[in-house]
Order: sequence, then structure tokens, then C-alpha cells
Amino acid sequence: MIYMFFKLTDEQLMIQTMVREFSRKVVATTAAERDRTKEFPAENFKKMGELGLMGMMVPVEYGGEGTDTISYVLALSEIAYSCASTAVVMSVHNSIVCESVNKYGNEEQKTKYLPQLTSGEFIGAFALTEPHAGSDPVSQSTTAVRDGDEYVINGTKRFITTGKNAGLVIVTAKTDEAKRHKGISAFLVEKGTPGLIVGNIEDKMGLRASDTTDLIFENCRVPAENILSKEGDGFKIAMTALDCGRIGIAAQSVGVSQAALDAAVKYAKGREQFNQKISKFQGLRWMIADMATEIEAARQLMFSAAAMKDRGENYTSQASMAKLFSSEMVNRITGKALQIHGGYGFTKDYPIERFYRDARVFTIYEGTSEIQRVVISNNIFKDKRK
Ligand code: CAA
Repeated sequence: MIYMFFKLTDEQLMIQTMVREFSRKVVATTAAERDRTKEFPAENFKKMGELGLMGMMVPVEYGGEGTDTISYVLALSEIAYSCASTAVVMSVHNSIVCESVNKYGNEEQKTKYLPQLTSGEFIGAFALTEPHAGSDPVSQSTTAVRDGDEYVINGTKRFITTGKNAGLVIVTAKTDEAKRHKGISAFLVEKGTPGLIVGNIEDKMGLRASDTTDLIFENCRVPAENILSKEGDGFKIAMTALDCGRIGIAAQSVGVSQAALDAAVKYAKGREQFNQKISKFQGLRWMIADMATEIEAARQLMFSAAAMKDRGENYTSQASMAKLFSSEMVNRITGKALQIHGGYGFTKDYPIERFYRDARVFTIYEGTSEIQRVVISNNIFKDKRK
């Protein structure tokens, strides 16, 4: 168990301030419009690349910012505050794709791909889930067969964040069916590779400006050197990637819940009923106090998982706790904030209905709440001292 009391450093605070300014000036202004049109904010990602937000934890020598995970979650929360669609793309890109290439890539792969990822030229996607393999990725059926200097990939991946707009996809596939999870490998596949086809684009309840697609691999040939690490390491790569990804979803949840709380407070200060501002009613004030307390608890869990990662400790369980608590918390908070808005909350005149819809998937993707409980309890019972 960790005990951690800390103060943010000047550098972390500076990053938070810089991203807050960018997020509220640039990202927020068009978020409602993008929710309506489903337009992918490509221009914003270019700007985010210039600001160093597309490779935050990547070492400087590969074009990244070399920041710690605490700075990253501060930045990601600020982006989520304005636009959850933008935040999920940033999260998968940084937490999963950049992290995996940096951790498992060889020198050539890092030199080739990290500068393109960190500049925002390539946005990353992670293709693990399949139509019949969501919570149980070991039962995936995509295959990769070695043919000379290439692997030939066949299969369909589902619910892939940024599937249409990604420049680089990390895809998992079976290289040896008999070996179960030890027969899964991970490959780097560039956009435009023949046989990589963008299939159905989901029409979603929330996160509408982030594309979620099927990716179909039809005799898709990738150079053998594009394998990440070695044959059989794909499941381990996916699981470690998801550890960091889950911290990202916690940050996304903290950002959206803070936006929902702030919107509720603003509304309550302006709305009058029974001859007084509704913010004067104790019932409402206590609701706001509970909301703020829950957000703070989630923020501390997010920081603790990030700090454990920065210290090089095993943070699997802490990341799952942060993801579980924060994603369920944001659904409670957006529901209460919408309630405070009354009938207006149910209209598109206020952003709260977007926050409510966007948050719904947080308890589902990157491992459902139920899977987080599996991870946390497995870690408790694995601990020999218990
Ligand atoms: N880090 C490193 N290795 C890990 C690990 C981790 N966090 N978790 C498991 N492993 C290793 C284990 O040590 C074990 O290795 P050995 O056999 O060498 O000991 C191996 O992986 C298998 O572990 P399990 O027996 O625990 O595996 P399992 O099949 O029972 O599954 C699970 C475990 C936690 C349920 C896992 O399948 C899981 O996380 N499922 C959910 C998948 C998920 O989150 N999908 C989301 C899709 S991605 C997404 O949503 C992204 C997006 O676009 C937004």
C-alpha cells in the first residue's frame, strides 16, 4: 500500500496552466459543434502536436516531451474538461500507442515512428477488440502468418478508437493458436498498407467527434520487422498498454466530472426559484459538496496510479482502481449535474447533456468496471501476504 502526500511541482503546474488555456480557448469553443457534426478535430491535434501533447511521456530524443505521468494526467484532464472526444484520442495515442512503441519498440521502430507520433503527424490506434472478443481478448481470432520477410494478417477488429483517422495502428493477432495468450503477437501497421480496410464507422451516443470503427485486415502484409518485441509478446504488450490506458480514462473522467460540476455551480448561481437562487438551497449545496468530494477522491486515485508508474512500481491494480472509481464517479456526477439543470439539462442549450452522454462509455471501454474488479481482486488474492 502506498501513502502519498505531495504538492505539484512548478513544472507540473506550468503544464496544467498552459493546457488549461489552450483547452478552454481552442478545444472548448467548437466541442458542441463537433458533437453535432462528428467532425474529427484534425487541426487541433496538429496544434496539440506543436504544444507537445501528442508524445508527453516519450523521451526528448524521440521528439517527445519527456514529462512524467502526473503532468500527463493533468494535461489530459484539462483537454477532457473541454472535449471528451478529443481527450480519448489523446489518451489512446499517448497512453497506449506511444507508450508501447517506446517500451517495446526496437531502436529502428522508435526512430521511425515516435517522431511521427509525437508531432501529431500520425495519430495512433490500438486494435485488440474483435466482434466476439471484447473482455476476453485471448479468444481473438485474427491471425498473422509468417511468409518470408512478411507477416500476413487476416481478421476483423471492432470498436477501434481513431480507426479511420489513425496513421499507425498497433494490432494484435495470433501467430500460434495452440499457445493461447502466449501465441498472440503485436504489429505496427501504417495507414495505407494494402489490405488494411476501414469498415463500419459506429454511430455513437457520445464521443461523437472521435471515430470508432471496424478495422478489417484482408491479407494485409506487413514487413516482419514491424513486429513489436517478439512473437508471443502481444498479450503482455496489450495488458501493460491497458494499465497506462486506464490511468488515461481516469484522467478523462476527472476532467469531464469537473466540467459537469462547474456547469452545475454556474447554473445554480443563476437560476431562481421560490424567490431565491437555487444555489441557496441546502439540499443543492450538499449535493454539490458530495460531488466535489467524489471528484477529489478520484483525482487522488488517478495521481497515486500515475505516481506509482513514475516510480517504476507495479501499478496494475492502482490503475484499475483509478479507472473503476473515476469512471463510475463521472457517471454519478454528470447525472446529478444534469438534475441540477432541471429541464434545461435535457436540452442542447447547455453542455451538460453532452457530458452525460460522453461519460457513459467510460465504464465500458479499456476494460469494463467488471473487468477492473477482476484485475483488482486477482491482485489481492495473488498477494501471498493475504
Ligand atoms: N501486465 C503485464 N502482464 C499481464 C498483465 C499486466 N497488467 N495482466 C496480465 N498479464 C499477463 C499475466 O501475467 C499472464 O502471463 P503469464 O502466463 O506469463 O503468467 C498473462 O498475461 C495472462 O494473464 P491472465 O491469466 O490474468 O489473463 P486472462 O485471460 O484471465 O485475462 C483480463 C485477464 C484482466 C481479464 C484481461 O483479459 C483484460 O484486461 N480484459 C479486458 C480487455 C480490455 O480492457 N479491452 C479493452 C479494449 S481496448 C480499448 O477499449 C481501447 C480503445 O480504443 C478506447
